[in-house]
Amino acid sequence: MTIQFSSKIFPQASLQSPKLLKATLKNLLSQSTDCLVLAYSKTDFDGFAGSKTAKSKVGFFGELDQLLGGSVSHANVVGDLEHQQAAVCMLRSEKSWLTNGIKAKRILLLSLGDMHLANGCSLASYAKVARAGLKALGGNSIENALWFVPSFVLDEKTDLIAEEVRLTIQYAGDQAYRFGVRQPAMKFKAKDKADTFKHLIFAGNDACAKELKLAVEQGMAMVEGMNLAKDLGNLPPNVCNPTYLAKTAQSLTKKTSLKVEVLGLKQIQALGMGSFLSVAQGSATPPQFIVMRHQGGKAGEAPIVLVGKGITFDTGGISLKPGEAMDEMKYDMCGAASVIGALYSSALMKLKKNVIGVIPTCENMPSGQATRPGDIVKSMSGQTIEILNTDAEGRLILCDALTYVERFKPKAVIDVATLTGACIIALGHVHSGLFSDDEGLVSALTKAGHTSLDTVWRLPLDTAYHEQLKSNFADVANIGGRPAGSVTAACFLSRFTEKYKWAHLDIAGTAWKSGAAKGSTGRPVPLLVNFLLEQ
Ligand code: BES
Ligand code: MN
Ligand code: ZN
Repeated sequence: MTIQFSSKIFPQASLQSPKLLKATLKNLLSQSTDCLVLAYSKTDFDGFAGSKTAKSKVGFFGELDQLLGGSVSHANVVGDLEHQQAAVCMLRSEKSWLTNGIKAKRILLLSLGDMHLANGCSLASYAKVARAGLKALGGNSIENALWFVPSFVLDEKTDLIAEEVRLTIQYAGDQAYRFGVRQPAMKFKAKDKADTFKHLIFAGNDACAKELKLAVEQGMAMVEGMNLAKDLGNLPPNVCNPTYLAKTAQSLTKKTSLKVEVLGLKQIQALGMGSFLSVAQGSATPPQFIVMRHQGGKAGEAPIVLVGKGITFDTGGISLKPGEAMDEMKYDMCGAASVIGALYSSALMKLKKNVIGVIPTCENMPSGQATRPGDIVKSMSGQTIEILNTDAEGRLILCDALTYVERFKPKAVIDVATLTGACIIALGHVHSGLFSDDEGLVSALTKAGHTSLDTVWRLPLDTAYHEQLKSNFADVANIGGRPAGSVTAACFLSRFTEKYKWAHLDIAGTAWKSGAAKGSTGRPVPLLVNFLLEQ
């Protein structure tokens, strides 16, 4: 998919004067495109639909109707035109359009509802509208579209417009994603039929051209990162094992300025990562420890470190999981996938910050060599851990990675993990769980969630919950019982993060979808990328 921004369609000044409105519409309609997407507000619609005579039809719709020789009035008479938010109406080219010099083959009227009125608009309503518009473009024979939202040329709030542009691209990427087109290892079934829709052009004016061109580049870079994260999540566990994750990370150094280092078993042993190794030891596939660097900031500048859980398959180990839907535990590396995706996006958009991605990755398998419930292991931090349930393995691999990252003297550390089933019970599939004692990080991540609509909800991390992790035989136990399972998991991790600002994201409910729509969502790549952009 190619996405562009064009400012050549508009005169310099704003749309508010009727003369310029007409000129702008004329310019838009004379562009050759398979579909011109025109967003309108409730006021545009009300003024138009309420007026009886053709002559009294003024404003946006009035002008448009004249230029289109009555196509809009006709759609209204038929009952195709609606005012409620996200309603769509597709007009198709007629003879009269051609004689009027209209080159657009179709016009998609897209209702913003009362969004762009005095109170300004919320990104969430825009998102709903954008999704409806994109859906109407897909599944047709439309290859390219010109996307015009009046606020793109009217509003002064360039930041908001940039967010809208990025979000449109994010959704276009979601809609266009197909499993089996990028990675060589994915030829398992005949390719899904791809949409014909391939090119999207945003129409705006010179005033915001610079910002919006940048937003388009950022949006496209984010989609690349999301696509990679989805591919990795969707790949079967016999292909996407720790070595595959490491190779994928390494392959990105050929496409970008990313630097990647991979530590193998011997090096992991030498570092004293006894906790990580206790999970890996049951598997015939060796563990890997991946370190990715994006050096976009100054040399000495403290990095933001992202740590991703990379369990490429979670059987539960000796504390074996029940068989139902166990295949979905191939998604237990989605934290890792989103970190790889976010680093890839950062590099593609040449983000002016230092970002480091760290991924401990292995399988959690039962075998004669596997860790037993009751085993005590020593973490890299020196703390001993009594493993009471081998299915609480995510925290065991993450804690050593969290100790490892101290060496980077990070500005902040965010770990991302499909950590607990309890988080799905608490928050469902809407928000990712956010745990942090740092108010700055909490508000930055919450805000980034809103701008990307990849949202988080804060859960507690009080000392009272630490009680549940007490062990009679070691410094800490790896489980805290059923009550507040996500919180005690986060509390466990917090014991290894004393040296820096830290936040934990539990993405068990948000990283993939089950059922008929089974598949990776690419979350929380948008959240992480927006967080990095807004830092
Ligand atoms: N990977 C799972 C968490 C998970 C479960 C994510 C279901 C998505 C769907 C994790 O390793 C795990 O098994 N956690 C246990 C912890 C328990 C043993 C304390 C859980 O959630 O049951
Ligand atoms: Mn588990
Ligand atoms: Zn797991």
